[in-house]
Amino acid sequence: MTLLIGIPMEAATGERRVATVPEVVEKLIKLGFQAAVQSGAGAAANFDDDSYRAAGAEVVASAAELWARSDIVFKVRPPSSEEVALMREGSVLIGFVWPAQNPELMQQLAAKQATVLAIDSLPRTLSRAQKMDALTSMAGISGYRAVIEAAHAFGRFLGGQVTAAGKVLPARVFIAGAGVAGLAAIGTAASLGAIVRANDTRAEAADQVKSLGGEFVKVGYDEEGSGGGGYARVMSEGFQQAQRAMYAQQAREADIIITTALIPGKPAPKLITAEMVQSMNPGSVIVDMAAEQGGNCELTVPGEAVVRHGVTIIGYTDLASRLARQSSTLYANNLLRVVEELCKSKAGTIHVDMDDDAIRGLTVIKDGDITWPPPPVKQPTGVPKPQPAAAVATTAPKKGHGAGAPMSARSLAIVFALGALAFLAVGLYAPTAFLSHFTVFALTCFVGYMVIWNVTPSLHTPLMSVTNAISSIIAIGALVQVAPPLDRAMGDRPSGLILDLAVGALTLTAVNMFGGFAVTRRMLAMFRK
Ligand code: NAI
Repeated sequence: MTLLIGIPMEAATGERRVATVPEVVEKLIKLGFQAAVQSGAGAAANFDDDSYRAAGAEVVASAAELWARSDIVFKVRPPSSEEVALMREGSVLIGFVWPAQNPELMQQLAAKQATVLAIDSLPRTLSRAQKMDALTSMAGISGYRAVIEAAHAFGRFLGGQVTAAGKVLPARVFIAGAGVAGLAAIGTAASLGAIVRANDTRAEAADQVKSLGGEFVKVGYDEEGSGGGGYARVMSEGFQQAQRAMYAQQAREADIIITTALIPGKPAPKLITAEMVQSMNPGSVIVDMAAEQGGNCELTVPGEAVVRHGVTIIGYTDLASRLARQSSTLYANNLLRVVEELCKSKAGTIHVDMDDDAIRGLTVIKDGDITWPPPPVKQPTGVPKPQPAAAVATTAPKKGHGAGAPMSARSLAIVFALGALAFLAVGLYAPTAFLSHFTVFALTCFVGYMVIWNVTPSLHTPLMSVTNAISSIIAIGALVQVAPPLDRAMGDRPSGLILDLAVGALTLTAVNMFGGFAVTRRMLAMFRK
């Protein structure tokens, strides 16, 4: 029996997003599911009922009917108690849940014997989880929108200009916190022509800021801010004091400040004091993206834009929802990827595999049992922990060779000696032809190991695409068939079928080769830009 995926209208006031969009409905149906959408669910994101119908979904009149009939419900915001009451016993919910902040909701959902996949609990550091990472897609949109909101409230151009009517200086934008949202804001502000500076407590953020066209401003106090998993931690009092002095200086110089600093499970650090706001030029703008978690600025009013000391302070908590069509589309794609992982059979049914790290992390309730928090994700053996790119290049080899650390000279010598002995043994007994192939094979393994093991995890995706392109070496075999070496007798020329196969292989490998290198170039450009 194929399952019905239901998409209710978001009930929270002001929420414009919808959990799936017509183009994704088509893909869900291809996976074997049926889809039902509450009438008007996509209206605020500019998707009308007819577009869902055309994609193959049924449009259902009321929320009550939708919740009662759905086997799986897609949501954006955590469901309200009223929505949980409408939910069918034993059904599946996929959406934002924030289990740490909503213990009551967790109990209510467990009482419904539900299975709940909280998209906010995805183990984000797993490479293959990136396609499901709704936190990242929403943060990227919010960072972009923060700059647009700031530009809207700011009375000048962002880029510099020389015109007949006078010279316009570029606006100075300071970004506090260079995570996903901060980096999106840096890229957007820089592309609009502003001079962008940014700060973060994590050292690895410095290169990322520069790569997006910003200048990284360091705090004059030596302390690393990484708290694990790519997130920040609370800094020492000494660091905070030095950071306040630097931020006071930046506030005096900046026209626009965008703050995004968050620490998981803690209130947002207060980085912009009332005095700093007062020191800014009238007409300046602050966008406090941490408003919902208490705000990075002392004067922020969550959900509102207020003017204090002549400075507009924007504390909107719905930045992603303000770009509803875009955010709904990306969110719908993230949920589609989750469902693809759950429905490997493509037969419209799901299997919640608790042995799969990504699915285990997402699943916060399984058949009524609360399974949150999940055990820590095991790092694959031999893969080095993420490090800043600069550190990777400069770190001196450490002792030991576990978990991807370089081998010591002595261990390397032992491995070489053992390898040489093994070769000698093979050379004494194996036929000559085998030995030459075996040598090439052993060298390939060695070179492959040395190349891949030293690549940072963040570069694994481009690495895969480049190795895929390199695998087109098969083209050489096809070339030999199409155009045999000159010294080969004409009678040895391949038959028509072999020739056709060789030409086919050449065409396919050419696509693989050129496509692979082009994709790798584009991916690397994202790191370099
Ligand atoms: P977040 O929203 O929790 O924090 C935003 C930023 O604020 C972080 O960069 C944090 O370092 C910074 N911050 C915290 N306290 C600060 C302070 N006192 N002063 C200045 N800055 C402060 O984090 P977000 O954006 O969700 O992700 C954080 C990092 O995790 C990013 O670097 C991101 O690239 C990485 N990440 C990695 C993923 C992966 O490996 N696949 C997936 C998603 C994120």
